Amino acid sequence: MMRFSVVTAFPDFIESYFTTSIIGKAVQKGLLEYDVVNPRSFAEPPHNQIDDYAYGGGGMVLKAEPLARAVDFVKSPDAKVICLSPQGKLLNQALVESLAKEKHLILVCGHYEGIDERFVQLYADMELSVGDYVLTGGELPALIVVDAVSRRIEGVVGKSSAVEDDSFAKGLLDHPHYTRPSVWRGIEVPEVLLKGDHGAVARWRRRESVARTLSRRPDIIKGAFLTPYLEKGLYVVLGDASKAFGEDEHLSDDVAIKLLKNAISIAQRAGCRKVILILKQVTERHRVRHLLSKLKETEPDFGNCDEMVKMVPDIAKAFGWIREKEKEKPYVVALSSESKGNEVDWNELKIKILGMCRPVVFCFQCPVERSADVCLENPLGVDYERDILSGVDSIAVALEKTIGFGKKEVPIGRDR
Ligand SMILES: C[S@@+](CC[C@H](N)C(=O)[O-])C[C@H]1O[C@@H](n2cnc3c(N)ncnc32)[C@H](O)[C@@H]1O
Repeated sequence: MMRFSVVTAFPDFIESYFTTSIIGKAVQKGLLEYDVVNPRSFAEPPHNQIDDYAYGGGGMVLKAEPLARAVDFVKSPDAKVICLSPQGKLLNQALVESLAKEKHLILVCGHYEGIDERFVQLYADMELSVGDYVLTGGELPALIVVDAVSRRIEGVVGKSSAVEDDSFAKGLLDHPHYTRPSVWRGIEVPEVLLKGDHGAVARWRRRESVARTLSRRPDIIKGAFLTPYLEKGLYVVLGDASKAFGEDEHLSDDVAIKLLKNAISIAQRAGCRKVILILKQVTERHRVRHLLSKLKETEPDFGNCDEMVKMVPDIAKAFGWIREKEKEKPYVVALSSESKGNEVDWNELKIKILGMCRPVVFCFQCPVERSADVCLENPLGVDYERDILSGVDSIAVALEKTIGFGKKEVPIGRDR
């Protein structure tokens, strides 16, 4: 259950929104609770004045005390106070997701020149803007927050998959939608949507999403998590795994397990299908199997760790295995200490990856520069002696920059 309290001098406007359509139904169902508080009720009688002239000249400013009393009146221990302001943090889907995890949001609407800065200073957990333009008051912005956040509350929107597929929910723009009739004014619905092949529909939708985002909003690709949009799988190959797991065993079991654990978690967060270790010797592969079973026993979160790891004796076998599995030649991204690297703009690489239908393989410390589709310079950007441990750091940086790690939380709290 989410509670919204809106502090506004124009309560009727807000009230009507909470009693209409999807939001109205959610209130009736008890999924949302709301109150609307008028600061005028907390202002000094007889005139109950809530605004006054700006010091130094200018228009009217909302007074601090009536707003403070109104907020104190509705405030619960879990409440977050949000002042709507064109100068605030810009609202986006990531921020909406974070706001939806709160229990009680108090939305304070400004008017005229704005709100007395001292109220903002003492009371606001966050100032929030709905866009780089100026409106006459905070009421519409408050309702935008209410609406966007409510859609993320379980049960408010009928089908949750619809919300999951919306623009920005997974990072890119939504695909186009069609309804009956199948031909309207001579324009036909794309054939694939009429045939009932769910796999083909999903592929078509993913491609349309990518194509739309590339043509309309290439800027949002920078921060998007790409794995859900890839046609084929994503893989990580760790080339000189022998250094860590080889016969010399110069890494103790504890350190080697930590290394496996880090490589697996990073790959999982990026949505990789496998971490492939190149290990020439049977004894090396045997040691890794033993370490994985130890990891499984000690860490419940890594119960399936052996499914994430594949071991092969050489890089050709790794590529061959991926090709066989994905029925498509892998697109090889090489990162290695020897790599001179083409100057690659990470965003360009993202766009390339999104536009193709091949599995993508990130190769670390493998001698594949010549055969790679693209070579990246050391992603950490500094020169130092690289080994298998820094290889794992490189994986993290390269995957984070290229693929992304899924949703990021936006902290709601005082940042001043
Ligand atoms: C005319 S505006 C004040 C603008 C203020 N003088 C400034 O330039 O930053 C009045 C009120 O409308 C609300 N408002 C206007 N534009 C907004 C936006 N883009 N996002 C959120 N709130 C906005 C705020 O509550 C603000 O206090």
